[in-house]
Amino acid sequence: MSKIRFFMKFLSSPNTIGAIWPSSPGLCRAMISGINIEQLDSVIELGGGTGVITRCIADSVMPNAAVISIELDARLAADIQRNLPRITVVNDSAINLRQILDNYNLKNASAIVSGLPWAIFPDKLQTDILDAIMQNLAPDGFFTTFAYVQGTYLPAGRRFRKYLHQRFNSVETSPVIWRNLPPAFVYRCSKVKL
Ligand SMILES: C[S@@+](CC[C@H](N)C(=O)[O-])C[C@H]1O[C@@H](n2cnc3c(N)ncnc32)[C@H](O)[C@@H]1O
Repeated sequence: MSKIRFFMKFLSSPNTIGAIWPSSPGLCRAMISGINIEQLDSVIELGGGTGVITRCIADSVMPNAAVISIELDARLAADIQRNLPRITVVNDSAINLRQILDNYNLKNASAIVSGLPWAIFPDKLQTDILDAIMQNLAPDGFFTTFAYVQGTYLPAGRRFRKYLHQRFNSVETSPVIWRNLPPAFVYRCSKVKL
């Protein structure tokens, strides 16, 4: 999907899209950095959007690794699947993560990479999806997600950071990617203390 069409989609569904512009190449790289992606059996993406992070994942994994992108918007999901036939795109909510892994005979996810717009999610949706991630991430797996710098000053952004620290033993933040629109950084979380 083109950048302009993605922006139009944001205007029509601001409460689920949560981004005005696709993630920049620098943000895509930061999302998969430091998670040993080239050695993983399964990578699950939540909120594939325009598929730019999905492509970065698909280009980095082993040829036989399972890559599943879960995207709520049917049109965006269809676009990702058409552009990246090698991976599996599921048009569903991230809240159904367990059911989706079962459908593909996966015990858990080696890594979960999220483009979900956490800062616009209500409290319960944040905690329900985070709990699903905790239950389905491999014990030594990484969870990465990005946040817009300005969103971290908002109540939902602050709450989200607190929830990450309550659940994960290690929560690291990347340097700010200033050339993203808007500027963003990545949380890299692990159940194990690093
Ligand atoms: C910020 S955009 C993704 C940005 C993406 N990294 C890109 O650059 O294109 C967030 C995406 O999450 C999707 N989304 C929102 N709620 C979701 C949910 N509960 N489950 C799965 N996807 C969801 C939206 O439809 C949207 O495509």
